[in-house]
Amino acid sequence: MARTALPTPADVWMLVREHPAPLRRSTNELADALKARHGSRFAVWHTDELVLGVRDGRLVLQTLGGADVPAPKVVCVRQMPGSMRHDREVTLLRHLERMGATLLNPLDAQLVCRNKIWQLQELALAGLPVPDTLSYATAPLEGVVRTPHLDAPCVVKPVNGYKGMQVFLAPDTRLLHDVAGALAQETPHLFQQYVDRSHGRDLRVIVIDGEPVAAAVRTSHNGALASNLARGGSATLCLGRYPQAEALAVAAARAVGLAIAGVDLLFASADTYTICEVNSAPGWRPEMTAVVPAITECITRRLDAPAECGGK
Ligand SMILES: Nc1ncnc2c1ncn2[C@@H]1O[C@H](COP(=O)(O)OP(=O)(O)O)[C@@H](O)[C@H]1O
Ligand SMILES: [Mg+2]
Repeated sequence: MARTALPTPADVWMLVREHPAPLRRSTNELADALKARHGSRFAVWHTDELVLGVRDGRLVLQTLGGADVPAPKVVCVRQMPGSMRHDREVTLLRHLERMGATLLNPLDAQLVCRNKIWQLQELALAGLPVPDTLSYATAPLEGVVRTPHLDAPCVVKPVNGYKGMQVFLAPDTRLLHDVAGALAQETPHLFQQYVDRSHGRDLRVIVIDGEPVAAAVRTSHNGALASNLARGGSATLCLGRYPQAEALAVAAARAVGLAIAGVDLLFASADTYTICEVNSAPGWRPEMTAVVPAITECITRRLDAPAECGGK
């Protein structure tokens, strides 16, 4: 069968979710900057536009129309890690990586970050401060909430949640016993030490290639626990005001292997912090003007790196 190749293969991709999911403002801003820098050597691909496989013993990618698509040198992945499924998006990312593309972030790091327990495992092993947390594999939830080391008040979240959805504060174990049957059973939950000093307030630090490039204190709306902007929280920029916290965010990004990270820190005491979570596809506020140039430079460094040390 005759096969056509695309006219100009792109060196730099941005990979985003399948249609019709709209791109986030920050993702569009980054795409515009990459287009301005790389012109036709840059392309945005949605995960539903590609098919993949093996032909004559070689890994291949093609469009739905049958045109061969060479793997780019660098892929900036802007898919929410929580929405990645193993046999779909993860397989595509794996295929790109195995075809020689450098993924930002590397796939291993993205896999660690899409599960809050996987992250905690890495952060704790690296000696970094995290709240005490309890989770489970297949133990029944009704049994887990009655286990002796589960103290209340505690914060409850699904292991793969995002945007502060489904995060809540359980004031006592009785409430946990009551709601255990109502919590979704498909994904495990975690039960975490409530950092009361940080109620409704956290510190988001964006770290690119080991440098803190933006930071904001986020405050929740109406006294809610979760300070995510998607839940109505507000952000006050503060880069440079909490240098110890920024250093902790850099260490957290390194511990999970992220080149591009959004680290959520909780205020544990007047001058100590604990790591809430690490995000591998963070968004940013329009006024965080250093983020896009930092990511663009990070991509250019990967592009210029010799193939054998391309960051995989
Ligand atoms: N252990 C905790 N103690 C106090 N507040 C917390 C705790 N865990 C989470 N929060 C609050 O809830 C928000 C969302 O939790 P997070 O773990 O970041 O989940 P998501 O992935 O949904 O953003 C945090 O930004 C923080 O404001
Ligand atoms: Mg968060």
